[in-house]
Amino acid sequence: MKPVNTSVAIITRNREMRRIIQSVNKIANTTSTVLLIGETGVGKEIFAEYIHKASRRHSRPLVRVSLSSIPHELLSSELFGYEKGAFTGAGESKKGLLEVAHTGTIFLDDIDDVPLDMQVKLLRFLENMEFMRVGGIKHIHVDVRVISASKVPLKILVRQKSFREDLYYRLNVVPVIIPPLRERIDDIPLLIEHFLKHYAPEKSLRILPDALNALLSYSWPGNVRELRNVIHRVSLFADKGITMDELPHEIRHSDAGETLVKSCRDCFVYSHVRFNDVVSCLEKTLIRLAMKNSHNNQSKAARLLGLSLSTFRDKAKKYSIVTPDHHRNFVLSN
Ligand SMILES: Nc1ncnc2c1ncn2[C@@H]1O[C@H](COP(=O)(O)OP(=O)(O)OP(=O)(O)O)[C@@H](O)[C@H]1O
Ligand SMILES: [Mg+2]
Repeated sequence: MKPVNTSVAIITRNREMRRIIQSVNKIANTTSTVLLIGETGVGKEIFAEYIHKASRRHSRPLVRVSLSSIPHELLSSELFGYEKGAFTGAGESKKGLLEVAHTGTIFLDDIDDVPLDMQVKLLRFLENMEFMRVGGIKHIHVDVRVISASKVPLKILVRQKSFREDLYYRLNVVPVIIPPLRERIDDIPLLIEHFLKHYAPEKSLRILPDALNALLSYSWPGNVRELRNVIHRVSLFADKGITMDELPHEIRHSDAGETLVKSCRDCFVYSHVRFNDVVSCLEKTLIRLAMKNSHNNQSKAARLLGLSLSTFRDKAKKYSIVTPDHHRNFVLSN
């Protein structure tokens, strides 16, 4: 999906993702603070870039700050900058990343990793977009759009008292929850096609049905990044049709029980332990696993679960689990 005013392509055909993109389009051009939430590799950074590019600030800087990779003791000086002589080694004064991002966007990645003392400082900054450099006495005002990202729902950290509630509300003005890849398997064939074209444009590779089934039923803990890496790797060795044999071990032998436990555990966390959400997640995972174990034969899959075919179909439809025949046509049509 690639609207006219941005050069960042978020590849998706999934209904929920399209809904998210539509709502993001509505707020891209405002200064609203956005909080992106999703597991590793779901596309938080690509969304941050998309929002920046779709905004009036697109030609201004987008400054990415990986908060988890900056040592805690350096966070203040990195973000707010410092004055000459503020600490040993501060021979010259230096702008912080917030100043560098002036008139543009700052992407605060891994916001869930910020220690409590820094959370206070960030909150103070967000209140009026002002701060002082380390060792400075002058208030500096900046015009920046703040987008932050977290791998865990911050609400949970607030409950555990490791994240300040007031900062959470400041950041969570526009929450964007990006679903894991295993919950939008209709995106898998599209992404495979995209990455095959990207990594091996000259080879016209295609995925054979068994390999595709395995890719569709794998739980993708590393999400799109993991899929991208897998496709990159297989594209180096495959010549024409990609078979099961070319897939990594963990995908060929993905264990049904493990997938079930992983999906439900994540859902348990992400849904804030809401009964209906956890049950839906379990149903969804069971349907996917049954499809895998029955080689995508819906009648067999329904029988495996002890469901009537019509109930099985209703549930597959409810959870947007599209039939593999559809995937097959899609991928093999190249
Ligand atoms: N919908 C998508 N279309 C195309 N590429 C995607 C999509 N989603 C993710 N990617 C690609 O997958 C990789 C991982 O995405 P990204 O870095 O945005 O994930 P992330 O959520 O920020 O992960 P992390 O939490 O580990 O930082 C990137 O190479 C990105 O371009
Ligand atoms: Mg990221």
